[in-house]
Amino acid sequence: MSTSDGKDPLRPGTRITHAGRRPEWTGRVVNPPVWRGSTHLYESEAERKAVTNGTSDGQFFYGRRGAPTQWALAEALTEIEPGAFGTVLYPSGVAAIAGCLLAILRPGDHLLMIDNAYDPTRNMATGLLKRLGVTHSFFDPLDLAGFENLVAEKAPRAVWFESPGSLTMEVCDVPAMASIARAAKAVTLIDNTWASGLGFAALNHGCDITMQSLSKHVGGHSDLMMGSASAGERWYKALRRTSHELGQVVSPDDAALAARGLRTMKIRLEQETKSALKIARWLEAQAQVDEVLCPILPGAPGHDLWKRDFTGGCGLFSFVLKSASSDASGPLADALKLFGIGYSWGGFESLVLPIYPDKHRSVMNAPTQGGAKPAVRLSIGLEDPDDLIADLEQALGQLDN
Ligand SMILES: Cc1ncc(COP(=O)(O)O)c(C=O)c1O
Repeated sequence: MSTSDGKDPLRPGTRITHAGRRPEWTGRVVNPPVWRGSTHLYESEAERKAVTNGTSDGQFFYGRRGAPTQWALAEALTEIEPGAFGTVLYPSGVAAIAGCLLAILRPGDHLLMIDNAYDPTRNMATGLLKRLGVTHSFFDPLDLAGFENLVAEKAPRAVWFESPGSLTMEVCDVPAMASIARAAKAVTLIDNTWASGLGFAALNHGCDITMQSLSKHVGGHSDLMMGSASAGERWYKALRRTSHELGQVVSPDDAALAARGLRTMKIRLEQETKSALKIARWLEAQAQVDEVLCPILPGAPGHDLWKRDFTGGCGLFSFVLKSASSDASGPLADALKLFGIGYSWGGFESLVLPIYPDKHRSVMNAPTQGGAKPAVRLSIGLEDPDDLIADLEQALGQLDN
């Protein structure tokens, strides 16, 4: 029995437990072992020619094409991504973003990019792609009519989404925008790191390619860097080709760590989402807090679209302070004892980051939400949420209002 995307009908929690296990690759071990090796020796010249001429996955070729540890991870990610035919792994999330865009765009093409995209993604449009002769425009995630006009005016080859967007967490209407883009023959890509395929089935909501930083939820333990892109057959093949051309490969050690993290990702995400909601609710009621930018919070900006389109969330959200001091977010971060100040998110430990979104916007009122007030982003980990609330309470209490 299989679903319309050819996958078995098991629920995600069951799929994620068994996905990517192939006895013909790794024997009967439960978790794929670390399989090192650059060079594979062929039985004969005839076998070498047969493998080298082929383009199918899961065959020993040379270390740069990976080995069972990487194949198992890629296959597991494909199995839990509704609508995917295959997944390409990259050495970081940013490498995945570059790999996706370079697979699609050619000199003379136009790229439409969401204005609240992760800053290095924006820099790719304004830097690397510009140098290669690709032009770009940024669009406001909350302006559907403006988006439609821009698509008609610019005839883009590709549209890049990220939802919720970085730092200010706006949720855009991906199905509506993707259908406008596709009608204009643009390729639709999304950075789906926040929700992962478990929380937002991007390919089933109109995207052609879904990309993730695996350094976040999949790794889950703040000890590896990796990215991925999953797609249906046509775009998967384009991604794979460009990745081979660029010589992209991930280490087997990191692939084994990511595969281990993947097994517990669903329960970690569920716990972090539950804790984030409790903390967001508490923050909303605090006198020092102006606005909580957390789409999983009922009544918060983006919640209605999140509820309509998503099946899960994560522990990442932001909040805006009322403080008259424009730099109050730094002292707040310093006053927190349980939240480390650091980049990244999605690990088991909570983090805080003062944010300045107005530096990373081109067309939106920056920041769209909260005005030009100090703000921080929290990544809620697996600590007891009541301890995190107590920490936030003491830190907020130290702010001069
Ligand atoms: C939304 C988003 N996408 C992509 C990335 C890049 O991933 P990586 O750090 O693995 O290169 C990040 C990193 O913070 C991110 O926040």
